Amino acid sequence: MGCAGSTPVSGTQSLYSLSMKPSAKKHHIPSNQIVWTEKNALWYAEQFGDHISNDLTINNIELNPNDIVIDIGCGIGTAVKIASIICNKGKIYGIDPMETLIKIAKKNIDQPSNIEFIIGSVENIPFKDKSATKVIAINSIHHWNDYNKGLLEVNRVLKPEGSFFISSDIVNNNDCGHGNGPLQTNEDILRELKNAGFIDITLQDYTLDDDGIHLIQCNKV
Ligand SMILES: C[S@@+](CC[C@H](N)C(=O)[O-])C[C@H]1O[C@@H](n2cnc3c(N)ncnc32)[C@H](O)[C@@H]1O
Repeated sequence: MGCAGSTPVSGTQSLYSLSMKPSAKKHHIPSNQIVWTEKNALWYAEQFGDHISNDLTINNIELNPNDIVIDIGCGIGTAVKIASIICNKGKIYGIDPMETLIKIAKKNIDQPSNIEFIIGSVENIPFKDKSATKVIAINSIHHWNDYNKGLLEVNRVLKPEGSFFISSDIVNNNDCGHGNGPLQTNEDILRELKNAGFIDITLQDYTLDDDGIHLIQCNKV
């Protein structure tokens, strides 16, 4: 398990499991070239919308109560809802281009809440410059249409000293489980983050039972 340069870590406490039941199914979907339609978005939501990678990511990025977080490609909002418990004095935004997923995400949110879901894409993040302390992308970067533009946008919306977290399921060796696109491996992602000028880039693996994520962290340029 894991990949070059990573340090295996295990035994993460599951906050998510206290409130929701994560899917036990393996989370591999084809592919970066997938065209997200209403139909396959619904299929994704049913099969993997509550996958444990959401829990593993949120519990390993050291969120603070005051954080302003944007989850890019939030799907049905599982990670946003977990993060909102920790960031109880801040705000958590989820953006996703699929209206179907955003509609599902908006269901069952207590009001008032520190959560907001917005239809939008990473290539044109619907936020002002320097809006967020943290940006996250969980099993999402492989699906972006234009990662160069997306990385510039992430950098734009981060506050000074803000951090960007990218997580992907641990599948086989260095395979991301999301097709064979330009960001298939961790090395691909690390290279492109460096090219985009992000700094302090690290990669670490986290596991819980039979599941795990590769978690890449970097800071604003
Ligand atoms: C594999 S799903 C992951 C969803 C969620 N983060 C999770 O882990 O449960 C990939 C998500 O990326 C979204 N996505 C696809 N293209 C995108 C883009 N250009 N910008 C932002 N999100 C995108 C999809 O709509 C989908 O919800």
